[in-house]
Amino acid sequence: MTETRKKVFIKTYGCQMNVYDSERMGDVLAGLGYGVTETADEADLVILNTCHIREKAAEKVYSELGRYREQKRARARDGKPLVIGVAGCVAQAEGEEIVRRAPMVDLVFGPQTYHRLPHLLTRFAEQGRPVVETDFPAEDKFDHMPTTPHAGGRRAVTAFLTVQEGCDKFCTFCVVPYTRGAEASRPVRKIIEDARRMVDQGVREITLLGQNINAYRGEAPDGRRWSLGRLINELSAIEGLARLRYTTSHPRDMDDELIAAHRDNPKLMPYLHLPVQSGSDAVLKAMNRRHTAASYLEIIGKIRAGRPDIALSSDFIVGFPGETERDFEATMALVEAVGYASAFSFKYSPRPGTPAAEMDNQVPEPVKAERLTRLQALLNSQNRAFLASCVGREMDILIEKPGRKAGQLAGRSPYLQAVHVEDAHHSIGDMVRVCIDSVGGSSLSAHIIPSGADSPVHAKATA
Ligand code: 5AD
Ligand code: SF4
Repeated sequence: MTETRKKVFIKTYGCQMNVYDSERMGDVLAGLGYGVTETADEADLVILNTCHIREKAAEKVYSELGRYREQKRARARDGKPLVIGVAGCVAQAEGEEIVRRAPMVDLVFGPQTYHRLPHLLTRFAEQGRPVVETDFPAEDKFDHMPTTPHAGGRRAVTAFLTVQEGCDKFCTFCVVPYTRGAEASRPVRKIIEDARRMVDQGVREITLLGQNINAYRGEAPDGRRWSLGRLINELSAIEGLARLRYTTSHPRDMDDELIAAHRDNPKLMPYLHLPVQSGSDAVLKAMNRRHTAASYLEIIGKIRAGRPDIALSSDFIVGFPGETERDFEATMALVEAVGYASAFSFKYSPRPGTPAAEMDNQVPEPVKAERLTRLQALLNSQNRAFLASCVGREMDILIEKPGRKAGQLAGRSPYLQAVHVEDAHHSIGDMVRVCIDSVGGSSLSAHIIPSGADSPVHAKATA
């Protein structure tokens, strides 16, 4: 039985939306009898789930495709065809062009069409010619995609749940509004059903996903549209669900209800990824971000007032067209003012079809590189300082998997850092109270605090 079972290899690039989508594609294909494999060599179907957000993503996809050409020929000779699909944002942006440049590709399909994979495969089998599908269909893809939490065969303790897709913000550097389409929120009832099912299957922590998640305005049972804060409060009533997170947000949509949830909802973890991109108002304006450095800092101040221990994270772009040394220094000053626990930073990369790519004051590559090095040095030192500040503190860790060494378990802190715990008595899915002992690279080591024991030395920290 298993010998004849077909296998799919899915290679994922880019953001967590893609990670989530790849898992759902695996689920859809399981319904057709496909098993997921981690090696391309034994696959009957290879899917590249691509990302278009930075760099020469499309070029990377073409060179990756070249690697399968020989495998495909050899398989054809043996009478066991290898089907190759390109999914994700490069597929959406390039469409037919992919088949023209890489004729070995059989399927090209955009992020809104994954639920139609069985239909696309049938169409390909029937017509024997490549199938390209990049429309934005009217139906909700999530209605047609099963949700099974994965952990590589282990019980999944944490899971992603998409609640919103698309973006209407049109930042001038970004392709997302073009590849993922307009903002669309899933209805509250469906999200709650998915979350309940996940929790019944053993999930204890759910990360809500959306390109621009805090713009969530989902249809609710009361006939109104709920905000993300309201949705989070409703989800947190699910018994057995211990933790909620969400990503990614836009400063403009950080409303009072969501800020209050960070203060009042103990299941909402004290971690917030809130991209700012730049600390210069001139650059923010040219980026069409529709917020200023001051309005961003004001939001951070409000969140910290309610949740002083919150770990903050952000995205930064250096070398946006027209960025001067003074603009860049304003970014450095903003980073100094906020103090981030972690962050992502990138050199500006012109994306075809976006307004910023057409701007004539592009910043030279060496200047971008030099600024990125300076920014990353500062962000890395803040990251180390945050990790060091955890040492000696008590916190709750959700155990997710066995640790690297025998007698060790691995989980995450409320602030999202990986934590290794010396312990032989607890199991996956347990929430344990620990004291952080040391920092090792980007992770933390801790020992269990026996339950019921008072710990007079360490003040109760958080969460
Ligand atoms: N160049 C560099 N970085 C970009 N990002 C998005 N588009 C670009 C681009 N053209 C970054 C932003 C965004 C993150 C997901 O990727 O910082 O928040
Ligand atoms: Fe892109 Fe801006 Fe939308 Fe984020 S908010 S997805 S950066 S357009």
